[in-house]
Amino acid sequence: MKKVNRVALIGTGFVGSSYAFALLNQGIADELVMIDLNKEKSEGDAMDLNHGLAFAPASLKIWFGDYSDCKDADLVVITAGANQKPGETRLDLVEKNTKIFKGIVDGVMGSGFDGIFLVATNPVDVLTQMTWKFSGLPSHRVIGSGTILDTARLRYSLGSYFGVDSRNAHAYIMGEHGDSELPVWSHANIGGRSIYDIIADHPERYNVADLDDIFVNVRDAAYHIIQRKGATYYGIAMGLVRVTKAILQDENSVLTVSAYLDGEYGEKGVYIGVPAIVNRSGIREIMNIKLNGKEAEQFHHSAEVLRKTMEPVIN
Ligand code: 2OP
Repeated sequence: MKKVNRVALIGTGFVGSSYAFALLNQGIADELVMIDLNKEKSEGDAMDLNHGLAFAPASLKIWFGDYSDCKDADLVVITAGANQKPGETRLDLVEKNTKIFKGIVDGVMGSGFDGIFLVATNPVDVLTQMTWKFSGLPSHRVIGSGTILDTARLRYSLGSYFGVDSRNAHAYIMGEHGDSELPVWSHANIGGRSIYDIIADHPERYNVADLDDIFVNVRDAAYHIIQRKGATYYGIAMGLVRVTKAILQDENSVLTVSAYLDGEYGEKGVYIGVPAIVNRSGIREIMNIKLNGKEAEQFHHSAEVLRKTMEPVIN
């Protein structure tokens, strides 16, 4: 008999409901249970999504449930938590969401859950680390969305700049999903050709200095979107579905997710965005790519920022 793939989604706000919609549209899971404190909203979402089933590429059993439904889940995706309010510090958010996560992770683990966690709530690297700590699961089974969206934004921007399909633009954003992240220009290429070589060949069209603007726009993209529409959700939802697919279909895909470092890149004991091979077991392996001096320095700084941010909540 075919194994039934169950995803439990905790948090059905903008990101959670967009994830559910993207999951339904890609036909990669068999069951989706939606869990949220706001019963009415989630029940409504489950009903609404079910009405799209006749148009979906594959069947998906969708229902509003509770923590007991996590017992048989292969993957628990957490998008729940507080958003930063005007006047609130980043630290306030860390403390508030750590408390919320304690309740969520205890609830999930109490069901007998023995699968993989995928965390998206911000600050995502710290909350992934807290999920790992609260769950007691091995670190390769606790994954954060990390810089998957930042990397997608960079690929989109490079695709536009060089006039090629963004799927042929290869470059990583690594580090914190936030202000201290870094672009790995030393490995950036278009269809295998270094962006520096392309720029050098066409000085009339391209300029190395433009790369700084491209990166700043990528790093600050969330601020620009939040300023316009209050939140970001479609991009991250598709990124979460991409990770979901890599896990459920045992793809061994290289994705920039938040993973626990145990010596890789000279860092230990911190969740941070790195390229990693993702499959049915979670993170199979972290790709230890060779950073240049500046990139290694920026990455180390980013890890330090994360350590400082989690200091008040980690013990
Ligand atoms: C984003 O980068 C806010 O983390 C969210 O879109």
